[in-house]
Amino acid sequence: MANHVTLTQFIIEQQRGLKDASGTFSMLLNNIVTACKQISHKVNRGNLIGVLGSADSENIQGEVQKKLDIITNDIMIEALNWTGHLAGMASEEIDGFIAIPEQYPKGKYLVLFDPLDGSSNIDVNLAVGTIFSILRCREGVDAELDDFLRKGTEQVCAGFVLYGPSTMMVLTTGHGVNAFTLDQDIGEFILTHPNMKIPEETSEFAINMSNQRFWEEPVQRYIEECVQGKDGPRGKNFNMRWIASLVADVYRILTRGGVFLYPYDLRDPNKPNKLRLLYEANPMAFIIEQAGGACSTGRERILDIKPTGIHQRVPVILGSKNEVERIVSYHLQQ
Ligand code: AHG
Ligand code: MN
Ligand code: MN
Repeated sequence: MANHVTLTQFIIEQQRGLKDASGTFSMLLNNIVTACKQISHKVNRGNLIGVLGSADSENIQGEVQKKLDIITNDIMIEALNWTGHLAGMASEEIDGFIAIPEQYPKGKYLVLFDPLDGSSNIDVNLAVGTIFSILRCREGVDAELDDFLRKGTEQVCAGFVLYGPSTMMVLTTGHGVNAFTLDQDIGEFILTHPNMKIPEETSEFAINMSNQRFWEEPVQRYIEECVQGKDGPRGKNFNMRWIASLVADVYRILTRGGVFLYPYDLRDPNKPNKLRLLYEANPMAFIIEQAGGACSTGRERILDIKPTGIHQRVPVILGSKNEVERIVSYHLQQ
């Protein structure tokens, strides 16, 4: 293992380069890593420890919760609330934001997370993940709602862990994107994919085609042109993938390019968008942009949106830059 860089070493060495760094951020990230290792273990054990299936409850967004949605949410909260590094947290599974219990000191960061992304995959033994976003907060106070409603450009760190054939952590602090593979034998994440860059050109798209009749015209046009392949205006054949797990789709795009769309649709007029801005779209947009890609609603850069609520949903179009720019141009021509 002599030449291998662990995630802990990587974080500490990065922090050394920063003026005024107190080590707090490294410690916070380590707490998140510990939580994700616990989640990885639970996901991997599956029905051996009875964690699969539904929990017979709904979250604030009216979605039926899986047992693992609740278990992973509890793991994240319990791994972070005592640390003294946080002024508050927000989770997909909890209404409002999560205050730090009175007995613990308050810190200068906020963590916003989706504890289990792609949870419809869990019972069929496919890839799931955890997504997180870190914001800075006013120091030593209890966070208020407004502290969470920051533009994505204000994130100090974003990351996700993919529980797939390997458990991998993908991370950015605004200096490129690095990915680490969990070495189960020693319990450490090892830097295996330094400085990831998304290829600009691609011929692979990801979208849930079953929603096609509810899309707007620009998305209809883009997908139609892809499907026409060599015989259409693009003059080349496209391939399609849809894993139904944002973490897995984004990881594929980071490694071999492509474009992912969960666009505005009118399937349910009360819920025209699926993905949540603060703990799904923003962290992924930060990572994708840092890897040379782009992320938009079709009409606006995701990272520039001024949030209005913790569970706000937005259209998401992300991936290889040229392709995202083309889709945005179709929206602007309308
Ligand atoms: P979550 O499991 O956290 O609710 O997120 C699921 C998201 C995302 O991971 C995925 O890309 C998308 O929902 C899948 O949606 P469909 O089931 O509509 O395809
Ligand atoms: Mn999710
Ligand atoms: Mn989730």
